[in-house]
Amino acid sequence: MKSIIQKAGSILFLLFLIFSFNAKTNAQPDAAALYQQYCAQCHGSDLNGGNATSLVDGVWQFGAEDGYVIRNIKHGIPHLGMPSYERSLTDEEIRAVVGYIREAEKEEGAVKPPAPEMVETMDYFMEVETFADNLEIPWAIDFIDENTALITERPGRLRIVENGVLQAEAVKNTPQVLHEGQGGLLDVAVDPEYERNGWIYLAYSHELKEYEGNRPPAMTRLVRGKIENNTWTNEELLFEAPPETYRTTRHHYGCRIVFDPWGYLYFAIGDRGAGYQAQDFSLPNGKVHRIHKDGRIPENNPFLYDDEAMKSIYSLGNRNIQGMAIHPETGELWTTEHGPMGGDELNMIESGKNYGWETITYGRNYNGTIITELTHMPGMEQPNFYWKPSIAVCGLDFYRGNLFEKWKNRLLVGALKYEEVRLLQIEEERVVHEQVIFKGAGRVRDVSTGPDGAIYVVLNNPGKVVRLTPEE
Ligand code: HEC
Repeated sequence: MKSIIQKAGSILFLLFLIFSFNAKTNAQPDAAALYQQYCAQCHGSDLNGGNATSLVDGVWQFGAEDGYVIRNIKHGIPHLGMPSYERSLTDEEIRAVVGYIREAEKEEGAVKPPAPEMVETMDYFMEVETFADNLEIPWAIDFIDENTALITERPGRLRIVENGVLQAEAVKNTPQVLHEGQGGLLDVAVDPEYERNGWIYLAYSHELKEYEGNRPPAMTRLVRGKIENNTWTNEELLFEAPPETYRTTRHHYGCRIVFDPWGYLYFAIGDRGAGYQAQDFSLPNGKVHRIHKDGRIPENNPFLYDDEAMKSIYSLGNRNIQGMAIHPETGELWTTEHGPMGGDELNMIESGKNYGWETITYGRNYNGTIITELTHMPGMEQPNFYWKPSIAVCGLDFYRGNLFEKWKNRLLVGALKYEEVRLLQIEEERVVHEQVIFKGAGRVRDVSTGPDGAIYVVLNNPGKVVRLTPEE
């Protein structure tokens, strides 16, 4: 009898232990940690936006009340790329994250510390100066010559910096862009033979005009033109996807433009939110494309003789490339690809190869769910390097200048989420060293070697461009 009571007692005690343990861990989900794990990638580690909107600017496009905010987190906003968290966060955790957002909203207005004026790296002390300021979501920079830089602003403006002065008026008559979600005016690239031909290339999000309905499908489009009297002229269409391949989503457009030493032009289109389509070579999305500078298809493109294939495709299985660079000596094409959570990649792209998305990946969905267990597959390439956790790679260039001698031909990698520029040393296609050379001044959207040998970093939030030079 006694032993039964004792047993019942110890079982009760055990239950009590389990209950109190659970109560303790469930009592207060660590909202800050949950936010950093699940949301920071897109909404920024300071909640101030990045690849998605700010959550602390007081603007609630999809409803301001808690009920709406909770619903948007729980069910996501699929056409814009906002994942659903129904399966990975409990209601209580979602409420805790909303509480965390509300607290941060109250504190908003606190002034962000200004960018540092001097930075120490392993090899150099660097001076940091503001090159252009008060820009709205600057996306890319390229240079016509030592004195003239072109900067795109995502809402659709092409800006000129002349002798260090940002011209007040944007270039007139540039193409009309769809500025929604991640879309807008994206890359700008100056023809390597600009002095002879005057061509400038633009990539942007383009919507189907003939469409009847409230959300026209969109896709990435490429044009080239010239600037005369601050006006965009002589426009030529270089790439436009067939209308039936346009998508109503508003994210993963790519798009960078680079030229190799043989005169080919490469650009990439992101998967437009449809990962499986990256494996389908009849579709433009999730691919690297190669064309001649006037838009013609090169005669040695890899899928030229496949009836179903889009003839401009150069590689497949690329999720959302936001960094592209040509090696200054070998002419190889290198890309950084914005991955899912834990799947940011660096790839050297070769003709006709398949880079795996979304059949294989090192990442998971942003809401924590599994995309695939597979990281390898015969016939699919491994990345040359990948970042886990993701740093949100964006913008890529080989250092080609003379100011930082030790960094010659190293790769400069921008990171939106980590607000960093990293420097990668590559030997035989492998990354042998990585160091952070710049950090904490804003999200890095693009990074570029200028004709003067300085490193130019395009920042979002605040929207500006800084110029890095070694201390004299
Ligand atoms: C993969 C990127 C991504 C991740 C990760 C992500 N979001 Fe979003 N979120 C978006 C996008 C895109 C939108 C739509 C608005 C826009 O275009 O930026 C959005 C919208 C929202 C909105 C509605 C904003 C409004 O203006 O009404 C809320 C609230 C929100 N997200 C909260 C969260 C929270 C909380 C998390 C983490 C649990 C999270 N998001 C994770 C991409 C993301």
